[in-house]
Amino acid sequence: MKHIIITGGAGFIGSHVVRLFVNKYPDYHIINVDKLTYAGNLANLKDIANAPNYTFVKGDICDLDFLLSLFATYPVDGVIHLAAESHVDRSIKDPFTFAQTNVMGTLALLQAAKNSWEKRADGYANKLFYHISTDEVYGALRFDDTLFTETTKYDPHSPYSASKASSDHFVRAFHDTYGMPVLVTNCSNNYGPYQFPEKLIPLFINNIRHGKSLPVYGKGENVRDWLFVEDHARAMDLIFHQGKVAETYNIGGFNEWTNIDLIKVLIKTVDRLLGNAVGTSDHLITHVTDRSGHDLRYAIDATKLKNELGWEPSLQFEEGIEKTVKWYLDHQDWMDNITSGAYEKYYQEMYKK
Ligand code: NAD
Ligand code: DAU
Repeated sequence: MKHIIITGGAGFIGSHVVRLFVNKYPDYHIINVDKLTYAGNLANLKDIANAPNYTFVKGDICDLDFLLSLFATYPVDGVIHLAAESHVDRSIKDPFTFAQTNVMGTLALLQAAKNSWEKRADGYANKLFYHISTDEVYGALRFDDTLFTETTKYDPHSPYSASKASSDHFVRAFHDTYGMPVLVTNCSNNYGPYQFPEKLIPLFINNIRHGKSLPVYGKGENVRDWLFVEDHARAMDLIFHQGKVAETYNIGGFNEWTNIDLIKVLIKTVDRLLGNAVGTSDHLITHVTDRSGHDLRYAIDATKLKNELGWEPSLQFEEGIEKTVKWYLDHQDWMDNITSGAYEKYYQEMYKK
């Protein structure tokens, strides 16, 4: 049996990756390590919580002693590292937490893996540290620039992207300095079920449903490249098993939208699914002060992944958005639990030390 640690598995993308691995690989033991910050929610994993090949461990990736004992408990073969502070607006208000979790947390995880793997009889053979990063490390494109490739120079602008860029460098440094087998992927904006409703798509779906205003930063002209989260999880599975050690792969949807056009699609879809007349919620659009340092455009060139490993997004955007809006409308209880803060209290009680 292989023992795989997935960090941040109670978050948005992590929960999809944990579910995929637990269901697809019964001979793997999946250890989900998550601190359960405001963004971590075990309700995202209710369907697999009792699977025999799954263990949840509440813990902080910044706590090296905790990590050393975790690696001493399980003969870990691989790490898929997603745990992070992930919201740009929060990073603007509180950059230190982002440096702590994203940089120091990643470093602690690398150090624990190094300690453990260097003591094993077969050393680094058949081990892998797979780090999940973002397209934001490449900076911002202008409208007429070509897409980000794996060789685009790093140029992060927000405290979030600066912390992710720094963590990427540490991961590569552990390969170059100690010979640790590592992989890094940089992905574009994900959307789909279980995304914390401070991010654009779930926040706006919920606001449209409740007739609340939709705060569009600036003119809404910024461009993002959207990928359905299950396609990202599928890419990670492929790369974890077939990617070349020390390589970087870009993952993206080839699916660019200005925020304002995307918001119009969300309004139309929610109104239709709720049986409202066309245009009912258009008046909710409210232009507000722009995000500081708001990157104009992100767009990923995922050609390397397609050519080398045969991955492509499986869903058309229209299909993905329809599925996503339906999911949020059908899971109002999930949303209410978060917006009422009920789940945080519940888990604090359940896992208090
Ligand atoms: P998320 O905020 O939904 O989840 C993050 C998870 O990490 C939560 O479960 C949280 O409890 C956990 N966590 C935070 N700090 C921790 C700590 N100190 N120790 C242990 N666990 C901790 O994030 P997400 O959107 O699912 O993103 C996951 C990863 O993917 C991040 O590394 C992010 O940078 C990257 N990424 C996200 C996107 C996107 O569009 N969401 C795109 C590209 C890359
Ligand atoms: O590109 C990948 C990144 O995508 C990930 O690394 C991040 O973890 C993830 O949060 C996401 O970052 P963004 O900043 O692009 O996502 P967000 O959903 O916060 O915003 C998407 C766009 O919508 C962005 O241009 C800002 C804008 N926006 C966002 C919110 C929350 C608004 O106009 N109004 C809003 O209220």
